[in-house]
Amino acid sequence: MSINHRFSAAIFLNPIDQPFTMRSFAIFTAATLSTVSAFAPSSGVRTNPTFTAPSISSSTQIQMSLTQDELKKMVGYKAVDDYVKSSMVVGLGTGSTAYFAVERLGELLKSGELTDIVAIPTSERTKEQAESLGIPLVTLDTHSKLDVAIDGADEVDPGLNLVKGGGGALLREKMVEVCADKFIVIVDESKICDGLGPGFPIPVEITPFCHEHTLRTVGALPSCAGCNPVLRLGSSSNNQVDGEEIAVTDNGNYIVDLHFTEPIKDAPKMAMEIKGTVGVVDHGLFCGLTTAVIIAGSDGISVKE
Ligand code: 5RP
Repeated sequence: MSINHRFSAAIFLNPIDQPFTMRSFAIFTAATLSTVSAFAPSSGVRTNPTFTAPSISSSTQIQMSLTQDELKKMVGYKAVDDYVKSSMVVGLGTGSTAYFAVERLGELLKSGELTDIVAIPTSERTKEQAESLGIPLVTLDTHSKLDVAIDGADEVDPGLNLVKGGGGALLREKMVEVCADKFIVIVDESKICDGLGPGFPIPVEITPFCHEHTLRTVGALPSCAGCNPVLRLGSSSNNQVDGEEIAVTDNGNYIVDLHFTEPIKDAPKMAMEIKGTVGVVDHGLFCGLTTAVIIAGSDGISVKE
């Protein structure tokens, strides 16, 4: 899949014309989507175009072309600024959007604006990033209750049900995020959909033992009728065929990606059927878990609860 998002945003500075910061952006943002070429629905890889430097058009307004990475950074920073307070236990998601939330948490801990935080990473990649930033880490074994978890998503439907696991971390993400008082989802608007399924394959983590049998069993579930189950190959951190070996998750398991051409009618029902299949470890349908979704897009930043 390829995507080429370029967002043109008019950013209105505050009266004393402070330099642009993420916090000031969160206060005054008006964005205009200038060009979007839609991504192919079934492959699941989003690429990021080059950042276009801002040009100043007046003393109070800056015209910026914002790439998808810039949008991800905005929501990542805003989630930490708005939802993380000192002394919290924080769940750290996985992926290119969650990366920026981890970055922001590290920054605020370093500056002393946040203190006494411990965090639980949802993947080895996020653990490495957090360690490199000096974020104190714990696990669910010592901290079964989190104040907040922040993570990206591959798709978000109108009921705030999610598809996650494009990056292969769905099991640890779900284990951590179900334990959080608040689960904050951060996305750019390309992730918003009317119905889960056709826009992004549903990842299912399965045991390596007799994985072909489990793949067939899941594909034959009544709620999965019409899907094409595909064993993930290459890197587990994306759903592209980027290798010949079977992809292995951080937990030593395999992933089957369920490709749909029609929107899933009843995502919670499908979630129950898949989860009830012996051989399935967990799946990327996150239903009824979301507290709020922070979305960056053509109208600036919005929050859905
Ligand atoms: C990883 C995930 C990610 O949160 C999801 O794939 C979104 O990633 P990105 O922010 O890179 O688009 O579920 O398992």
